[in-house]
Amino acid sequence: MAKLLHLSCSPRADSESSAGARVFLDGFRQARPDWDIDVVDLWRERLPEFAGPIVEAKYARMKAQPFNDAQRDSFAEAERMALRFSLADRVLISTPMWNFSIPYKLKQWFDVIVQPGLTFRFDPSLGYLPLLKDRPTTVILASGSDFATGMNRGRIDMATPYLREILRFIGISNVRFVPIGPTTGPQQPIEAARERAHQHLAAMAANF
Ligand SMILES: Cc1cc2nc3c(=O)[nH]c(=O)nc-3n(C[C@H](O)[C@H](O)[C@H](O)COP(=O)(O)O)c2cc1C
Repeated sequence: MAKLLHLSCSPRADSESSAGARVFLDGFRQARPDWDIDVVDLWRERLPEFAGPIVEAKYARMKAQPFNDAQRDSFAEAERMALRFSLADRVLISTPMWNFSIPYKLKQWFDVIVQPGLTFRFDPSLGYLPLLKDRPTTVILASGSDFATGMNRGRIDMATPYLREILRFIGISNVRFVPIGPTTGPQQPIEAARERAHQHLAAMAANF
């Protein structure tokens, strides 16, 4: 069965990125009622701490050394998470912007799955090569500031370039970003930004 994987990255009940994801998924379900939607809620699922055997496994791989038993066991968790992602035909990421970038849970998720021989490889003559196949991906990014019009009060957006680069590094280049912001401050611009983003997301979902 074809599958959309949704990485849900806000811990808030009133989350703007999650509300955007609901609009997108409602439209997507109507367009593709037979698809499986696999939700990875990063605040509910157990993510391995990237310390101890799992980080040593990464270094063993980079040095082309065999795993010990603990490294193999912990690497299997990374394999399971990367496999769940790699089996998705479409990807939706809904995330807040936190401190110019992404929430630490999403960074932790990338730190676990971005592994040599799993999602990328290194070739001495060709450099770093992605191992995942490309697939349509939508990123909904909610931010207190409005980066579309430049009303960002001196803050910058490092989340968009980071996500574009880390996804490209593992093979996902077909990515469209839908910003939702401002989500803080006066009510009128918040509502206008939400309305604009939701209309855009509903239209995108029909052809995703
Ligand atoms: C810890 C934290 C850091 C934040 N940092 C930024 C920031 O750097 N830039 C920004 O525009 N908004 C920032 N915000 C505001 C959030 O991006 C905004 O509330 C957004 O709507 C959160 O997404 P959510 O509604 O999906 O939870 C921050 C909020 C929190 C809680």
